[in-house]
Amino acid sequence: MGPAGRLGGAVALVTGGASGIGRAVCARLAQDGARLAVADRDEAGAGVTVGGLHAGGGTPHAGSGGSPQPHAAFGVDVAEATSVTRLLDRIQEHFGSPPRICVGCAGITRDEFLLRMGEGAFREVLGVNLTGTFLVTQAVARALVAAGAPGGSIIHVGSIVGKVGNLGQANYAASKAGVEGLTRACAKELARFGIRCNAVLPGFIVTPMTDKVPPKVLEKFAGMVPLGRLGDPQDVADVCAFLASEDSSYITGASVEVTGGLFM
Ligand SMILES: NC(=O)c1ccc[n+]([C@@H]2O[C@H](COP(=O)([O-])OP(=O)(O)OC[C@H]3O[C@@H](n4cnc5c(N)ncnc54)[C@H](O)[C@@H]3O)[C@@H](O)[C@H]2O)c1
Repeated sequence: MGPAGRLGGAVALVTGGASGIGRAVCARLAQDGARLAVADRDEAGAGVTVGGLHAGGGTPHAGSGGSPQPHAAFGVDVAEATSVTRLLDRIQEHFGSPPRICVGCAGITRDEFLLRMGEGAFREVLGVNLTGTFLVTQAVARALVAAGAPGGSIIHVGSIVGKVGNLGQANYAASKAGVEGLTRACAKELARFGIRCNAVLPGFIVTPMTDKVPPKVLEKFAGMVPLGRLGDPQDVADVCAFLASEDSSYITGASVEVTGGLFM
């Protein structure tokens, strides 16, 4: 896809854009012609992502105002309402319009067996993965409605674990199941503004997040995947690009599993 691309210079906010799946989503959306607002708690890492986009051909195109730097990095803590509100203000200041595409990739794990899990680890994971997704979605939707509802596509990153559960991940599974419910409610409420809301549910994708998973466990899961391999961030990014584009214009409230067939 050329720089004018099928996303036609739309502003795309990607949270968690400093690493793993988020970074791959940024690269793919930029390739499709979006102007990226790369947001992360790790602002330096978000800057590295933006550097990669510019080095990788993030050239000016129609809709970018001829700016040689169409992408920008922002620091944010998605679990903090004031930080998220400030992020949306800064994005609108920088790009002159709110993001019509939003992919919520910020997420954390704090794994522990239920019998040993502290309340803090439960609340922390819910705070980032679920409350964070709510806060970002609400802020983006409010900005779009205030701008006259020009349409939009909001993509939540859930997890197959939210459907099937996982040992040591009561907090994470609960947060990701919540994300799916949030997606469906938002889809119903935002449809009248022309804003679609969908979720992707990755299976095991090799990223810094899975570095913490013991190699023996990863091997076990790789052997269980019908398509015969663990996932790559690009596998998820490609589905996000589809959900961001008009190719999915009649899809809202859906959860798309990106698991290689694991847990069908
Ligand atoms: N890797 C997998 O196998 C897998 C599977 C299913 C779902 N997911 C989900 O995909 C998303 C991306 O995961 P990943 O594997 O790329 O992980 P990652 O750890 O590589 O990236 C997560 C990013 O989120 C950022 N982040 C964390 N807390 C934040 C906060 N409060 N505010 C802003 N940014 C914050 C981190 O700094 C990091 O850059 C997560 O939501 C994760 O739950 C991953």
